[in-house]
Amino acid sequence: MPNGTIVLETTKQHDLLKIHSPASGVALQGLVQIPGDKSISHRALMLGALAEGETKIQGLLLGEDPRSTAACFRAMGAQISDLNTELVTIQGIGLGQLQEPADVLNAGNSGTTMRLMLGILASHPGRFFTVTGDDSLRSRPMSRVIQPLQQMGAAIWHRQGGFAPIAVQGQSLKPIHYHSPIASAQVKSCILLAGLMTEGQTTVTEPVLSRDHSERMLKAFGAAIAIDPETTSATVTGLARLQGQTVIVPGDISSAAFWLVAGAIVPGSELVVQNVGVNPTRTGVLDALMQMEADITLENQREVAGEPVADVRVRHSVLKACTIAGELIPRLIDEIPILAVAAAHAKGTTVIRDAAELRVKESDRLAVMATQLNRMGANITELPDGLEITGGTQLRGAEVDSFTDHRIAMSLAIAALTAQGTTTINRAEAAAVSYPGFIDTLQHLIRG
Ligand code: S3P
Repeated sequence: MPNGTIVLETTKQHDLLKIHSPASGVALQGLVQIPGDKSISHRALMLGALAEGETKIQGLLLGEDPRSTAACFRAMGAQISDLNTELVTIQGIGLGQLQEPADVLNAGNSGTTMRLMLGILASHPGRFFTVTGDDSLRSRPMSRVIQPLQQMGAAIWHRQGGFAPIAVQGQSLKPIHYHSPIASAQVKSCILLAGLMTEGQTTVTEPVLSRDHSERMLKAFGAAIAIDPETTSATVTGLARLQGQTVIVPGDISSAAFWLVAGAIVPGSELVVQNVGVNPTRTGVLDALMQMEADITLENQREVAGEPVADVRVRHSVLKACTIAGELIPRLIDEIPILAVAAAHAKGTTVIRDAAELRVKESDRLAVMATQLNRMGANITELPDGLEITGGTQLRGAEVDSFTDHRIAMSLAIAALTAQGTTTINRAEAAAVSYPGFIDTLQHLIRG
């Protein structure tokens, strides 16, 4: 294979992505358009279904995860137009009006779909729901939302250990003040959504502020929601009505992160990633890369439909190691796999701590990134709650695996750009969960 070549081979069951690189790396050049934000896409579909009247969504992510959300809410009576059009419309059915679905609701690979939806289902009295997901999702912890929902009086059955499949008998719930032990937007959003249908005030306090897209969008749809930044608490007053809105979904910073790291690590690269959502609860990846002395600038900063947005320029530079821990973690939780790739190219030893949560994502992201990048010649030690990465070793092509995790597949593809020889990424099709056009865009940027 000549240098800078990308080949996608589709076998009966899986995709093999082969990337061939010289030791100097495959430089990327140009403008990048990224897909819509995954978190905002899920919330727009859910609130659109629960609102009265029409919701219009521009820039919805067409990945498999939001498709799972759309399929679940269609099965409960929401009329959601064809997702493959520029403007998706939803005829909402109104708060508390979801119909009992005739079959099991399938959240696929999506933790956000399952956890947020459980709050909605548990608060729909008189209806019975069953929820499942794929192999990965059925091994992810659901007790973190089941327990607080049970405190509200929810009737929920689950597999031993709090795993899906899950059955829910909708109830009239009672409001609670929940002190979440973890900074999780999925937990917070689940309880606030249950609070929407519950008379009285439901409050969630979290140890550190997690992404606040639910709070922003609930406010825009007319919910009675109050935020207390001092105590990192959000309170929803139940039984207010939601009104359909126009939602403009910004580009996903978690998808932009792959290009930002690619631009930073491959000599000769310069990229401008356009229309990136830069909500401060999500920009930890920019802070970490700037700490590593990446050459990153924010241009054309603006606000679009209640969310801050910018174009982000990155040029190659020599990176240096840093520490990623503490309150920064919730602000870059999904970007740790690609930051591990950046750290493998930085001078010195980068330490990532307080990130044990990564062990219960779509895969055990600490174990998988350590083993797969080490196969490519990186120097990574796994810690119980993080990674220790000594950068600067020349990566080499190897056979690696996504473990069906979208962010692992894409992180390994970016690492392959500086790995001398051919890297083969097994089960690369996982990328489509959050970034359907990833491989096409990669090919396009190599040509410059
Ligand atoms: C998400 C919250 C985060 C994140 C996930 C999306 C959301 O999960 O990792 O990809 O949309 O609320 P946690 O809430 O479990 O941290």
